[in-house]
Amino acid sequence: MTGDLLAGLAPPPPTREEIGPGAVRLRGWALPRAVELLAAVEAIAAAAPFRHMVTPGGFEMSVAMTNCGAAGWVTDRAGYRYAPDDPLTGRPWPPLPVAFGDLAQAAAGAAGYRDFQPDACLINRYEPRARLTLHQDRDERDKGHPIVSLSLGLPAIFQFGGLKRADPVRRVTLLHGDVVVWGGAARLFHHGVLPLKDGTHPLLGKRRVNLTLRRAW
Ligand code: SIN
Ligand code: FE2
Repeated sequence: MTGDLLAGLAPPPPTREEIGPGAVRLRGWALPRAVELLAAVEAIAAAAPFRHMVTPGGFEMSVAMTNCGAAGWVTDRAGYRYAPDDPLTGRPWPPLPVAFGDLAQAAAGAAGYRDFQPDACLINRYEPRARLTLHQDRDERDKGHPIVSLSLGLPAIFQFGGLKRADPVRRVTLLHGDVVVWGGAARLFHHGVLPLKDGTHPLLGKRRVNLTLRRAW
């Protein structure tokens, strides 16, 4: 009887899915630690507030950003770079919480990248309609290290393309707790986030928060 019932059920969704050469989505990977991660993000934002940075071309980004770790990613009219201090406060970025480093290292390991030790975490906050156009992460010194991206809150459609901007783009849904790791052949692949759809998340309301852990220096 149970067998018949179970046979009618769809199999559980895969937890590890290749989205490119050297790129994987780990479905729900950060879910058990989501509340702890969000509390840490709140503490970081109290010391280094979210702000809308300006691109070198003079456009204000729709995504609000802050950082933690020894290196923080910044953009202004002078360009994209990593900086030890928060330009808004003049103080060093808040330290990288141990939980962020542990989780990123474990996720990188699950994706096949051993011994990942991030020194930077860019925290992106999206509200409905906020988006991130296709770009490459190339301000890090050694591209041998992967990028680990952790998503919380409202779902997003992540675009994952190729080395060339015009390469075909795959659309990957990222839900609360999902982690994406890309490195190796995919390390410099173009990626972005489509305009966030309106919605309400039980923990984050009308927001999505994404953490990308990197080895910048
Ligand atoms: C990023 O490319 O830095 C962020 C990607 C995301 O928000 O999922
Ligand atoms: Fe990126």
